[in-house]
Amino acid sequence: MFLFLLLLLSVSRSGESSPAVPLGTGDLNRKSFPEGFLFGTATSAYQVEGETHQDGRGPSIWDAFVKIPGKIINNATAELTVDQYHRYKEDVDLMQSLNFDAYRFSISWSRIFPEGTGKINWKGVAYYNRLIDYLIQKGITPYANLYHYDLPLALEQKYQGLLSKQVVEDFADYAEFCYKTFGDRVKNWMTFNEPRVVAALGYDNGIFAPARCSKAFGNCTEGNSATEPYIVAHHLILAHASAVQRYRQSYKEKQKGRIGILLDFVWFEPLTSSEADNDAAQRARDFHFGWFIHPIVYGEYPKTMQNIVKERLPKFTEEEVKMVKGSIDFVGINQYTTYFMSDPHLTTKPKDLGYQQDWNVAFNFAKDGKPIGPRAYSGWLYNVPWGMYKTLMYIKEHYGNPTMILSENGMDDAGNITLAQGLNDTMRINYYRDYLVQLKKAVDDGANLTGYFAWSLLDNFEWLSGYTSRFGIVYVDYKNLKSVFHPHDQVSCCALVFDLTERASFDNLRKHFDDFNSQVHPHPYKFKFVVIVNKRDKLIPWPRDRAVSKEEAIDWCYSHKEAFYFETSAADGSNVVDAFEQIARDPESSENRTLSLERDGDRRVSDRVSAEDLKCLIPDTVVL
Ligand SMILES: *[C@@H]1O[C@H](CO)[C@@H](O)[C@H](O)[C@H]1NC(C)=O
Ligand SMILES: *[C@@H]1O[C@H](CO)[C@@H](O)[C@H](O)[C@H]1NC(C)=O
Ligand SMILES: *[C@@H]1O[C@H](CO)[C@@H](O)[C@H](O)[C@H]1NC(C)=O
Ligand SMILES: *[C@@H]1O[C@H](CO)[C@@H](O)[C@H](O)[C@H]1NC(C)=O
Ligand SMILES: *[C@@H]1O[C@H](CO)[C@@H](O)[C@H](O)[C@H]1NC(C)=O
Ligand SMILES: *[C@@H]1O[C@H](CO)[C@@H](O)[C@H](O)[C@H]1NC(C)=O
Repeated sequence: MFLFLLLLLSVSRSGESSPAVPLGTGDLNRKSFPEGFLFGTATSAYQVEGETHQDGRGPSIWDAFVKIPGKIINNATAELTVDQYHRYKEDVDLMQSLNFDAYRFSISWSRIFPEGTGKINWKGVAYYNRLIDYLIQKGITPYANLYHYDLPLALEQKYQGLLSKQVVEDFADYAEFCYKTFGDRVKNWMTFNEPRVVAALGYDNGIFAPARCSKAFGNCTEGNSATEPYIVAHHLILAHASAVQRYRQSYKEKQKGRIGILLDFVWFEPLTSSEADNDAAQRARDFHFGWFIHPIVYGEYPKTMQNIVKERLPKFTEEEVKMVKGSIDFVGINQYTTYFMSDPHLTTKPKDLGYQQDWNVAFNFAKDGKPIGPRAYSGWLYNVPWGMYKTLMYIKEHYGNPTMILSENGMDDAGNITLAQGLNDTMRINYYRDYLVQLKKAVDDGANLTGYFAWSLLDNFEWLSGYTSRFGIVYVDYKNLKSVFHPHDQVSCCALVFDLTERASFDNLRKHFDDFNSQVHPHPYKFKFVVIVNKRDKLIPWPRDRAVSKEEAIDWCYSHKEAFYFETSAADGSNVVDAFEQIARDPESSENRTLSLERDGDRRVSDRVSAEDLKCLIPDTVVL
């Protein structure tokens, strides 16, 4: 088979085909890689699932964070995002059609334990069971990550989350529940994604949740950049190691799986050959990647960090060293970009201490006036393929060549590009090809790499950038999703199911419906589509001329966010207006919508009414 990048962006999520773009892959194809080498895509729960308030999920710190006006571009949230919670089959089908072997997803802790500990949300469990089962059915190997920035908000409120050592035990309990529940099918586990980002962006400059930092380094109401990033990282390492210990003690042998962690690694190249710049680059690598890998491989923080951070750097007890050292079966590397590093030659001691300050380096995105590489949409992302090779060889040489997967790699476009522009994706194709050439070179030179995951399967909620950055190898048309999701936009297509008994009531309903849409009611919602159930349990879609079964309509409501399922037997349609009002007032908590989701449960639905079938059609063709 061809390398997957031959197929990059050949489809949009709606199945539209691309114009023929000639794609050069050099001489690369799957045979260029060792036997069993996996190709996959990666996503994370918060970025793709949506349904953040539904089916019993508890909020995470990101749900609280995105609500702070001005934090996320356009005040975007992930309440719907790309709705993988409902569309996972469509997404897995895409992976299959793109010829991928594996899918790296994350489990939302608060979807399983809404309060972080204790009470289990079985609907959340059922969702991951559905996803995992369907992946396996389609021949895609699940790679499950337990934490991708999304701490349950309840734990933040209860004991300040990652700042408390209590999180170590609570995370291990959650992890163990996942092994017990999903481990018969999931054989590849990851504890944390980018713990460095969690500690640095959450607690040093505070630009990520939970937005803590010293005043000198960001716009936070509370925090301490000199100490908190180190405390949080320490707890993350212990939580990781504790979760790995539980896996190895009680599950690994029986389930025959493996467990690792996901670390981000920007390559840091010295700007000049001076000793000072070489040291600066090394400090950067130690503070960035070494912070986590060093304890895991050698049982202590890098010496550079110990010397610079001194007593602000927590220490592992002897018992903890035993638990932390060797606590990976593999390590995932997220590699996107490279910077030139130099020594800033500071002449005065900085007034305020902080994690980034401790690096004592300067970042350079160009050398002799020449950019380090072409920039993607994101300001931090330069296309520098050779950094991939250097990263992998560095890990091989400094950390005993652990088994590695390349767990994230990719680039982004602006959010406002059209589908046509998105499909003409030469820059991304070249990015992937050039990075894969370098990755293969590292494999040929002995780096112990067993898989590669592109970030990301789909465009999705890109944290601070909201929907203004597209990392997907599959383009997502947000217009429809967005219009459904933002209560202030107009819903373009809604389904309502009413159980009406008489023609008279149908006429009433229709009048209410027209009134509603003609802004008699000043609501943002407009219903363009209504499904009516009559007594004989036949559904009469309106405006539409084909009857569908009630089951079909319920399925449709279930699989379409824009659908609301209502049952009422009022003969005169009098409570129909109440229903409209209720949805418009509070679409997310509509009792009856929830009801319809529950009814569907785990049932596998065949013969779905296609969205096309039910697209708002010509009014007035009514069959009763
Ligand atoms: C974000 O929300 C704040 C507060 O509601 C508002 O002032 C601001 O204009 C919004 N920004 C955008 C881009 O919608
Ligand atoms: C700091 O954050 C507050 C609250 O989130 C916001 O109102 C203010 O505009 C921010 N200031 C700056 C300089 O970003
Ligand atoms: C790569 O890792 C596997 C298992 O982790 C090991 O068996 C193999 O010897 C390693 N290969 C190299 C080249 O280190
Ligand atoms: C996207 O927005 C930027 C400015 O924000 C603009 O310069 C660019 O032309 C837009 N692109 C498209 C395709 O609309
Ligand atoms: C694709 O994009 C390139 C620039 O990236 C442009 O030169 C070319 O004309 C585009 N092709 C099509 C078919 O739009
Ligand atoms: C919701 O469903 C219940 C039972 O199916 C029904 O009694 C109630 O009237 C419905 N609510 C609305 C607003 O239609």
